[in-house]
Amino acid sequence: MRKPVIAGNWKMNKTWAQSVLLVQSISNRTDDSWESVDVVVCPALCNIKAVQSVFDFDRAPIAIGAQNVHWEAEGAYTGEASIPMIKEIGATYCIVGHSERREMFGETDSMVNKKVHALIQAGMTPIMCVGESLSIRDEGTYVDYVSKQVSAGLAGLDASHVASCIIAYEPIWAIGTGRTATPEQAQEVCSAIRAQVAAEYGDQAAQSVRVLYGGSMKPANAEELIGQPDIDGGLIGGASLEAEDFCDLVKVAAR
Ligand code: PGA
Repeated sequence: MRKPVIAGNWKMNKTWAQSVLLVQSISNRTDDSWESVDVVVCPALCNIKAVQSVFDFDRAPIAIGAQNVHWEAEGAYTGEASIPMIKEIGATYCIVGHSERREMFGETDSMVNKKVHALIQAGMTPIMCVGESLSIRDEGTYVDYVSKQVSAGLAGLDASHVASCIIAYEPIWAIGTGRTATPEQAQEVCSAIRAQVAAEYGDQAAQSVRVLYGGSMKPANAEELIGQPDIDGGLIGGASLEAEDFCDLVKVAAR
C-alpha cells in the first residue's frame, strides 16, 4: 500500500503574515486521520521558516516543501537558493520541474534531473512534475511525451531512489484553468508513468513510487481522481490557499 500524498503548491502567493495565518488555520484543523497521509505545504522560499515555526510549535503532522532549488550547494548563482539552505530552515520536500518553471524560466529535463539527483543525495524527497501542453494532448502524443519527461528526469538514479520519489502528473491545460482532467484521462497517464518506471527500474520501484495528479483539483473532484488505481494523491495549487479546501482534500486522501 502506498501512503497517499497531499501537497499544496502555494506558488507566488501569501506574504509572511498571510502564510502564518494560513498554516495556523490548517494546523488547527488536523486530526489523527492525518497520520495516514503525507501532507506537505510548499510556501514561497522566504516564508518557509515562518511556516516551519508554526508547525514546530503545534507539532503538526505536516511537512514543508520548497517550490524550486538549485542543484549546486553554493556559489555564484544570483537569485537562487541551495539545498543546504532550504533544508536548514525546515524543507524536506521540493517541487522540481513545475510546468511554470519549465515554460517561464527555461527549466529543462536535464536541469530537472540534476535537481532530483541533488535532492536525493541530500535525503530530501523530490516532487517531480511532468505534463503535456494542450497542443500535445490534441496531437495524441501525450503518453509518449510524458513518459520521456519521466525517463529524462529520473535518469541515472538507483531503483531504490526512484522508489522514494514522488512524480506529479500535471497536464498544463488543467493547471489553474478550472478544467480538470477526467479521472480516466488522469489514470491513463499516471498508469503510463508507473509503467515507464517499471520498464526502467523494475516492478518494486514502480509499485513504491507515488504518482500524484495536479491541475484544478478541489474537494469536489478529488474523490474520483484519488480513487483511481495509479493516483496516489494530489499536487494542489489554487485550492491549497484556502485552509478548509486543503484540509478537505486531506480528508479525501485519508479515506
Ligand atoms: P491548480 O495548480 O491546482 O491551481 O490547477 C496545480 C499546480 O500548478 O501545481
